[in-house]
Amino acid sequence: MTCIELTNVWKSYKLGNKRIVVLKGVSLEVREGELVAVVGPSGAGKSTLLNVVSTIDYPDKGSVYHMGTRIRKSEEWRAKWRRKNVGIVFQNVQLIPTLTALENILLPMELNGVPRDRALRRARSLLQLMDLADKADRYPAELSGGEQQRVAVARALANDPKVVVADEPVSNLDPQNRSKVASVLRSLADSGKCVVVSTHEEELKSVSDRVCQMERGVLRC
Ligand SMILES: Nc1ncnc2c1ncn2[C@@H]1O[C@H](COP(=O)(O)OP(=O)(O)OP(=O)(O)O)[C@@H](O)[C@H]1O
Ligand SMILES: [Mg+2]
Repeated sequence: MTCIELTNVWKSYKLGNKRIVVLKGVSLEVREGELVAVVGPSGAGKSTLLNVVSTIDYPDKGSVYHMGTRIRKSEEWRAKWRRKNVGIVFQNVQLIPTLTALENILLPMELNGVPRDRALRRARSLLQLMDLADKADRYPAELSGGEQQRVAVARALANDPKVVVADEPVSNLDPQNRSKVASVLRSLADSGKCVVVSTHEEELKSVSDRVCQMERGVLRC
């Protein structure tokens, strides 16, 4: 089954009275079970593309489908869709500073009405998966950059989303943890999810089914 389908996507940003065209007719198809890596130089448009894939942003032109459903322009519709179907690891992590690691992972489940005890079990097992079981009660500021990044990965998986989008999820990690997160993302794909990542790291490229090149807003897979 096709999980993610982008067709002729254009996206520009307004900067003063100029318009910067960042995505120039990007098409991408990701099937169930696939892990696709997007690589390319800084400023090429990788984060912009991933934000469209995750539905955080809506394209100026072109279409985005998730599991056969066309993503709508309404912010409210997209927010609801994301809560149920999409897990996102942001390039700048974006943990909530006033919540502990455990609470950060619990939050998306609370928003979805998952019963407390089930949510707690799930959050603890995700922390364990990320080798962070002993850091459950730390606040983000009390965690290293790599630990924060692994909490962000755990949070993205909380609601068991079909679509996982991760923007440079291994960039702050040591080699051992790069391999760890890469293998978690690989097994997610193997369990039938579709996963799109951006990366510069070999550990993540080497477990991907496809490596697509983003260059000046054009994607080549
Ligand atoms: N909100 C914005 N307003 C104006 N320009 C933007 C905005 N966001 C991104 N851009 C521009 O769009 C281009 C692509 O940015 P993007 O963040 O997608 O690149 P990237 O490939 O993810 O880079 P990096 O590897 O550094 O993360 C850049 O030239 C950037 O300056
Ligand atoms: Mg980026």
